Amino acid sequence: MATDVIQTERDAFAERVLDAVGGVNDVYSIYLGDRLGLYAALAERGPQTTDELAAATDTHERYVREWCEQQTVTGILAVDDPATTPERRRYSLPEAHVEVLTDEESLHFLAPFAQLAVGAATPIEQVVEAFGTGGGVPYADYGNDVHEGVARANRPSFYHLLGEEWLSAIPDVDARLRRVGARVADVGCGHGHSAIGMARAYPTVHVDGFDLDAASVAAARDNVAEAGLEDRVAVHRRDAADVTGEYDLVTAFECIHDVADPVGVLRAMRRAAGDDGTVVVMDERTGDSFADPSDVEGLLYGFSLLHCLPVGMAEQPTTATGTVMRADTLAAYADAAGFDAVEVLPIENDFWRFYRLEGRR
Ligand SMILES: C[S@@+](CC[C@H](N)C(=O)[O-])C[C@H]1O[C@@H](n2cnc3c(N)ncnc32)[C@H](O)[C@@H]1O
Repeated sequence: MATDVIQTERDAFAERVLDAVGGVNDVYSIYLGDRLGLYAALAERGPQTTDELAAATDTHERYVREWCEQQTVTGILAVDDPATTPERRRYSLPEAHVEVLTDEESLHFLAPFAQLAVGAATPIEQVVEAFGTGGGVPYADYGNDVHEGVARANRPSFYHLLGEEWLSAIPDVDARLRRVGARVADVGCGHGHSAIGMARAYPTVHVDGFDLDAASVAAARDNVAEAGLEDRVAVHRRDAADVTGEYDLVTAFECIHDVADPVGVLRAMRRAAGDDGTVVVMDERTGDSFADPSDVEGLLYGFSLLHCLPVGMAEQPTTATGTVMRADTLAAYADAAGFDAVEVLPIENDFWRFYRLEGRR
């Protein structure tokens, strides 16, 4: 290749790397704004000086000033008069950014993705070590940011889409969940928002949530209590592979790719659904193959490297699935677990694919 072509490509690539570093700084600064309540204070109180914002959030003015300046230079905040003295400048959160950064109920709420990204990088030393040893990093070692980040990221969809769009698109399941006494098992329920979403959408349904992570189970129980649903939603600390019972619907939301033994978990789900219950899995919308990646696959591989693969490798033996679980991989797990067929449900979503696992052997 001609030298000038290589130089042009080199410069373009160098720019891409620099942009990526800027993106990481965006993520960490968004994390600070979210965690310290800076965005919320700006959204609630309108334009603020750094003194006012620091007082409102119980933070130190010098740090807040640096953050406000960084946020303004990178286009996240606006400032009334950049030429005036630092103490007189008033910073604000543009209206179009409010929902994305502060509205916990919105389907456009993306602040938790920053929380998730920061959390995923927290045990980076353990990940480096795992690359050498072939071991893994336990889910608990990622701490609250990953657990809460996932929960906050998925919560709006579970509260606003799960019942109203996703399950209602499966008419027989929808009808069954409307019968009095219908029961759902939700494995890998995390902070419990999917269980709460289903209980809200189907007013007589009983949901048992199961998760192995003690901190997540405690958070889920708190969330269920806060939602006033303790009479219909119970959360159990249990390995998904050990789930027993008889359920009309057995679900796993963004969980199967994380477990070391997906076949064991799917087998337990099949048993819990009995002869005529239904098993539904929601997992990442991957492309059909490495040669045909989906739009979100770059993001998925990033989370896989830092989090999902090390988590899946923490327990041995393991299938070591990683975040990028393709449809044919799930179909192979389902086959090994005794299902006859896997139907990809016609539910449109940029991030998720929904599978209905059918048949018993
Ligand atoms: C990515 S999180 C998803 C949580 C939740 N379903 C959601 O969508 O918000 C995966 C969850 O699976 C749980 N998990 C992983 N392996 C498990 C197992 N063997 N049994 C039960 N839960 C498991 C983790 O503790 C974690 O809460």
